[in-house]
Amino acid sequence: MTYDLTVIGAGPAGYVAAIRAAQLGMKVALVEGRKALGGTCLNVGCIPSKALLDSSEKYEQVNGHLADHGIDVAKPKLNLKKMLGRKDDVVKQLTGGIGMLMKKNKIDVITGWAEIAGPNTVKIGKETVESKNILIAAGSEPIELPFAKYDHKTVVDSTDALAFDAVPKHLIVIGAGVIGLEMGSVWRRLGAKVTLVDMAERPLAIMDKELGDTAQKVFTKQGLDFVLGAKVKEIKATKTGGTVVVETKEGEESLKGDKILIAVGRRANTGKLGLDKAGVKTDDRGVIQVNEKFQTSIPSIYAVGDCVPGPMLAHKGEEEGVACVEMLAGQHGHVNYAAIPWVVYTHPEVAGVGLTQEQCTEQNRAVNVGKFPFAANGRALAIGEEDGFVKVIADKTTDEVLGVHIIGANASEMIAEAAVAMEYKASAEDIARSVHAHPTMSEAVKEAALAVANRAIHR
Ligand code: NAI
Repeated sequence: MTYDLTVIGAGPAGYVAAIRAAQLGMKVALVEGRKALGGTCLNVGCIPSKALLDSSEKYEQVNGHLADHGIDVAKPKLNLKKMLGRKDDVVKQLTGGIGMLMKKNKIDVITGWAEIAGPNTVKIGKETVESKNILIAAGSEPIELPFAKYDHKTVVDSTDALAFDAVPKHLIVIGAGVIGLEMGSVWRRLGAKVTLVDMAERPLAIMDKELGDTAQKVFTKQGLDFVLGAKVKEIKATKTGGTVVVETKEGEESLKGDKILIAVGRRANTGKLGLDKAGVKTDDRGVIQVNEKFQTSIPSIYAVGDCVPGPMLAHKGEEEGVACVEMLAGQHGHVNYAAIPWVVYTHPEVAGVGLTQEQCTEQNRAVNVGKFPFAANGRALAIGEEDGFVKVIADKTTDEVLGVHIIGANASEMIAEAAVAMEYKASAEDIARSVHAHPTMSEAVKEAALAVANRAIHR
């Protein structure tokens, strides 16, 4: 059978592209190696980590914070097995839902690992599929440190960290980035001592500096330990524990822990696709090179998501998948890379969209910056969420919003307003003049936009 489009990889980039292509009238095959659809995000990434973040947050609330509200409860007991089971149920429900969506859109799902055998041919084991076009959405996998191979017992990756069978006594995380902070938060709330080691001088190093600095203070107060500006010199591990030797300005330090989570980034999952043989060009790290239509060096083969350049975010992959197939169908697909929000689902959450203040400085852009703290927001105080702030960066001459950065509870929801504003090239004054419901935390976004012109009301 000849398909119009064969998509390789059923993560958010791939399955969303498959649905959009079917909507546009293409006959679509979706090839996925895992038994369950949904890719890293649904199976071992975004969704299970959010389930555990929420469960562990509830545990922490009952364990300490309910008393602040005048609710006295007995000390809660952790049922880790049940907590992990609930997470698995959430994953099952969502991945099953994608199966239904494939049926609804008459997409043929083929289970097995795909290899590209030619410009229009995909091999899945003994099966051969012919297709007018091929879309690679093969995602990414955790980077392994060359001197600390995963044994999946002591030296673990983010997938292992979603399913420890007991709360570690001391979890050492290499990398104080997104995964480090999210998984570090989960296990700290459940009772582990957690130490985050990073070669950068602050956590979330690529985000706006003020966010990273504030995040460090807030998370230190919560009990996370940071060893920053640290070079990891050696990791020794047995089945029951290990030692991490780090070098900082203060000298060498040896950390002993029972789990060592490596979270130093992810790399494109393109090694086993047969790209070399097919003539699909990658860079030296396996990242597939594409043009503005997501077309690779072979005109009938396209690529989107984590295996092409750009931030490794599910929503970035989804937008690319949709844009790619819309262009294939002769429409005008489009991804605005200047307005892709990112979120760290810790508590408080950390979120941003657009340029950081440091990037504005590097690019010599004259800006006005408005900031507003949640400590001056009525709703935040009422719900005991006064940590953090909103920062709006606007062009000095035109007032166009260039970036919005938030650390605070519900930042993941509030950042959507900023992304829409930036999509429409809003000025800070546009946000400031928009009516925000009272009392909501989103009023802090309006106040920060007002603060760009030094006219915040509640400060
Ligand atoms: P990351 O890029 O967020 O953080 C990696 C950290 O490791 C950086 O701070 C870096 O300085 C540090 N590092 C790198 N090599 C090191 C070394 N040898 N020694 C010490 N520190 C070292 O990567 P992470 O947390 O592994 O996440 C991987 C990807 O998954 C990210 O691209 C992220 O976008 C995505 N992701 C997104 C989530 C979200 O949107 N909420 C959640 C989890 C992952």
